[in-house]
Amino acid sequence: MSRRLDWTSSPAGPLRGMLDMPGDKSVSHRAIMLAALADGVSRIDGFLEGEDTRATAAAFAGMGVHIETPSPSRRIVHGVGLHGLRAATAPIDCGNAGTGMRLLAGLLAGQTFDSELRGDASLSRRPMGRIIDPLTAMGAHIDSNEGGMPPLRIHGGRALHGISFAPPVASAQVKSAILLAGLYAQGSTEVREVHATRDYSERMLATFGWPIEFGDGWARLAGKARLRATHVAVPADFSSAAFFLVAASIVPGSELVLRSVGINPRRTGLLAVLRLMGADIVELDRREQGGEWLADLRVRHAPLHGIDVPEQHVADMIDEFPILFIAAAAARGVTRISGVAELRVKESDRLAVMASGLAGLGIEVVERADGAAIHGGRIGAGRIDSVGDHRIAMSFAVAGLIASGAIAISDCANVATSFPGFADLANGCGFSIAASAAGQG
Ligand code: S3P
Repeated sequence: MSRRLDWTSSPAGPLRGMLDMPGDKSVSHRAIMLAALADGVSRIDGFLEGEDTRATAAAFAGMGVHIETPSPSRRIVHGVGLHGLRAATAPIDCGNAGTGMRLLAGLLAGQTFDSELRGDASLSRRPMGRIIDPLTAMGAHIDSNEGGMPPLRIHGGRALHGISFAPPVASAQVKSAILLAGLYAQGSTEVREVHATRDYSERMLATFGWPIEFGDGWARLAGKARLRATHVAVPADFSSAAFFLVAASIVPGSELVLRSVGINPRRTGLLAVLRLMGADIVELDRREQGGEWLADLRVRHAPLHGIDVPEQHVADMIDEFPILFIAAAAARGVTRISGVAELRVKESDRLAVMASGLAGLGIEVVERADGAAIHGGRIGAGRIDSVGDHRIAMSFAVAGLIASGAIAISDCANVATSFPGFADLANGCGFSIAASAAGQG
């Protein structure tokens, strides 16, 4: 039975409270992967109990890795070593997760056995040529559907060799797929990026003891070393915090503190952009934990104004554009976004879905091939189809706070991929989200 979940988000606020966000999705995927391939038993605390990251854990369980869940958000992973995986007996279901599929493709390309990676309807439309091409250049053999679409059939038993690769798109998933294949490759594997992307794979490989050199926009490693079990403390996900940063900024009288949020600079582009728009956000108690920087983020209401979003921040806020559209709609004046064609190949075409959704609520949006201009104004009541994209659903739930009436948002079940419990947490600090669930045959 497929799930159906609709929300109605009504005007509400002010927002008040101290909130804990769920664990970081990117870090959780990588922690499971490297722990599974390590020698020894690793503990992961703060693991995201989302459908995406659970799908990755299930993939490794299906390849013979014993993973315990002693309590929610904790995993004990009994690593099988770099060469200890065994073939799954069925195709591996990556669900909605592009990160899961692309990173798995990299490390499965180096196995002795064949694998098949599948995804849901959204993931089945996302481009995989961007990893198939460089992995093929390393000696991998991967079949896909027409146009490089999933499912991916990955042939094992190939001898991989390192490459030096400059990805044509800024993508941490592409970089990570190549580096993970590089663990199994002869010689050295290097990735050089035009725009630096999140560096969690590099940092976590180092944490698990793999010799790797990396800096802003480049990484290099050699194959045939070992991963050693360790303890990973996953920070709270900045991309989840982003919805509350914007919500409290736009609702008069609000003040929230979001605890222990990861503030890796490759993730916090939205912070810089919101501050340029006039937001009042401060980082309290900055501290380091397991090689990542955390802070408690205190956000207070402040009037926002439109800006031209500097392109230098795009890669550092690639998942935050849906919620930035809402901040821009609530701001005085025009916000111009450019250089974001990648948004068209995320869980949905986020440029088109946000532009048409806001237009339907009375906001003037001019959509272009690689960006948009959003004219701040009064957000009206109305209906939104989130098209099953978690970040679209949560963004319009935030819009409902300041709309002239309720916003009905359909197809919200996929919020559970990255932020299970969003509606309850939001309602607990002052939102008014009513959920209605109905099974569909
Ligand atoms: C991610 C990288 C980004 C991001 C995604 C998570 C990662 O994708 O959008 O949510 O964990 O590496 P791209 O690498 O495709 O930009």
